[in-house]
Amino acid sequence: MEFQSNIKTIEWSDDCSKMINQTLLPYEFKITEVRTAEQMYSAIKNMIVRGAPAIGIAGAHGVALAACELSKSIDNKEVFLNELQKKSEYINSSRPTAVNLTWAVKKQMETAKSITGSISDIVTALKNNAKKLENEDIEINKKIGEYGSTLIPKGAGILTHCNAGALATVGYGTALGVIRSAFAKDSSIKVFADETRPRLQGARLTAWELLQDNIPVTLITDGMCSYFMKQGLINCVVVGADRIAANGDTANKIGTYTVAVAAKYHNIPFYVAAPTSTIDISIDSGDKIPIEERSGEEITHVNNNWICPKNVNIINPAFDVTPHELISGIITEKGILTPDFKDSVKKLFT
Ligand code: MRU
Repeated sequence: MEFQSNIKTIEWSDDCSKMINQTLLPYEFKITEVRTAEQMYSAIKNMIVRGAPAIGIAGAHGVALAACELSKSIDNKEVFLNELQKKSEYINSSRPTAVNLTWAVKKQMETAKSITGSISDIVTALKNNAKKLENEDIEINKKIGEYGSTLIPKGAGILTHCNAGALATVGYGTALGVIRSAFAKDSSIKVFADETRPRLQGARLTAWELLQDNIPVTLITDGMCSYFMKQGLINCVVVGADRIAANGDTANKIGTYTVAVAAKYHNIPFYVAAPTSTIDISIDSGDKIPIEERSGEEITHVNNNWICPKNVNIINPAFDVTPHELISGIITEKGILTPDFKDSVKKLFT
């Protein structure tokens, strides 16, 4: 089966969560079926599903799966809700940085607790809610795309980092949603994708996804961005986000901060595209965002082969935080936030 932009990256169907296995792309297109909370924990941790909005939906599916399972052996509602809470916390602990996971799991638990009927009514409500969040995600991304496209000058060279596309969401994408929407209006724009070491989401996923949609893209290595900015080939940057603090500081894939510094130096606008569910108003600055540390093997190995001396020290943070001073605008489904982000974020949530 080929990927088309109308295929969902993750979808609830037949009491099961079906997702594109992103660890296999671009070599193989395979749908993985996740049927238990434990399988969902592992799918998120091992990045079969990845990208902040997509793992949010995965979390919502995970809670629905846990509820289906628990309902088979528990008939006391209070015990059921307690056990469901434990499973939710377990799913939520699979990856720490993207706040969408916490957001979606919390939404599911609020739904579960609000149901006055039976355990079976709770299970039905959680399944329906999982489907609803899934459908809303695509609508949200289309709105982000529409707002963001107004910021893209005619014929612009746009750089993106990591994959904030259809694959990182249920469909359409956030940063790539902006690019899709801009391309629909002006096919002369030029897209540059950073390869995004160490997991190569830019090379494996962004390049693949855009080419599937016939959007031309040029793949560059992470260190090349300043070179092309200086040459005038890159006129703006659009990236996604995993968590945005109340002051606009933004956690995104490791290497994003470097791109933002280079953009500032070259006077190039740097935009973050994200749903409002990625904004964490409970933290006032990016210093408080937990940064996931992943296995050193992601750096030491390529295709299961060592690429460095075996006794070298490794440190592998999966995300960095771009300070708000380097961000020109945050594109959400509710409009474009501009500095001072403390004020614009506050207005959005009041
Ligand atoms: O480690 P990943 O692949 O889950 O990291 C993904 C990113 O950093 C994305 O840019 C971010 O989640 C935004 S996705 C719309």
